[in-house]
Amino acid sequence: MRILVSGGTGFIGSHTTVELIKSGHEVVIFDNLSNSKIDVLDSIQTLTGVKPKFFKADMLNKDDLKQIFEEYKKENKNFDAVIHFAGLKAVGESVAKPVMYYKNNIAGTLNLIEVMNEYNCKKIIFSSSATVYGSPKSVPISEDFELHTTNPYGNTKLMQENILSDITVADKEWSVVLLRYFNPIGAHESGLIGEDPNGIPNNLMPYIVKVADKKIEILGVFGDDYDTPDGTGVRDYIHVVDLARGHVCALNKVVNSTGVNIYNLGTGKGYSVLDVVKTFEKVNNVPVPYVIKGRRPGDIAECYANPAKAKEELNWEAEFDLERMCKDAWNYVKTNK
Ligand code: WQD
Repeated sequence: MRILVSGGTGFIGSHTTVELIKSGHEVVIFDNLSNSKIDVLDSIQTLTGVKPKFFKADMLNKDDLKQIFEEYKKENKNFDAVIHFAGLKAVGESVAKPVMYYKNNIAGTLNLIEVMNEYNCKKIIFSSSATVYGSPKSVPISEDFELHTTNPYGNTKLMQENILSDITVADKEWSVVLLRYFNPIGAHESGLIGEDPNGIPNNLMPYIVKVADKKIEILGVFGDDYDTPDGTGVRDYIHVVDLARGHVCALNKVVNSTGVNIYNLGTGKGYSVLDVVKTFEKVNNVPVPYVIKGRRPGDIAECYANPAKAKEELNWEAEFDLERMCKDAWNYVKTNK
């Protein structure tokens, strides 16, 4: 199939592009390169033998998007589906700059949907997030759990889910798959693609990596007084390649369905901050000094998935364990020194 991947040079988008090409699909990428580098395309070519067609495009510029679809329409071609990763995704930044987040994530996605509609491409896989569950009443979390968001970033994810769901009611030809990611970490085993955030990382693993690499002196552990086995926050960390493969499995679902189908993409296992630190130190034989700090506002104690629905309906389940995630995350940094 021919797949248009928005945000395809980003962390999850690039790993998904590799898996799509390996599965025999033709991938076309658009990205505004605001949080990724174009030389990722060369890495994808090294890994797959194929350099995906790339458009530098911003989803806030509707003409940019039309130009992509127009180029394929001229050759009587269309996209079988869109996988939509493009969006701003830092919780803290979204609190400080809400309008930027609503404009980019909501207006941008509305532009994409309108252009897809215009060119009769009505199948989309959307990159959602476990953040839509807010503070769950219990764990593990299933797809029918109550939804509740508490920051502008999370609000934009839930709004996009609702927009996409509403479209399938208005137009029965639309097919939407919402993939709710838990905590993606790690990197391709080659070390050629991985997580390369600009500036000071918000998330745990990229922060651990910078401390291990002595780019940052010490890790602050945000709270050790949660109601968890060791008092630190528990999350469902999932290898980014497992997550990427989940998108390939979701493709068959989105092209052979209509309406909305929702799946948690997690391992179903919860690990604490200190579990991750200790595992990282063990598998990579590198120290990660840390200090216990106060809780981060908005953090929850525990969050991990019940991944049964994705296994049953997408024939997908995560394969890689925490040790492999920590090994691949560190290997990426060492390979790209
Ligand atoms: C994980 C754990 C922190 C950094 C966020 C978004 C979510 C998704 C993934 C985009 C928590 C602790 C972290 C640090 C720490 N992003 N921590 N010191 O908050 O679970 O999820 O990223 O889709 O939408 O909400 O991930 O990696 O920030 O935190 O102690 O320097 O690590 O308290 O327990 P989170 P995270």
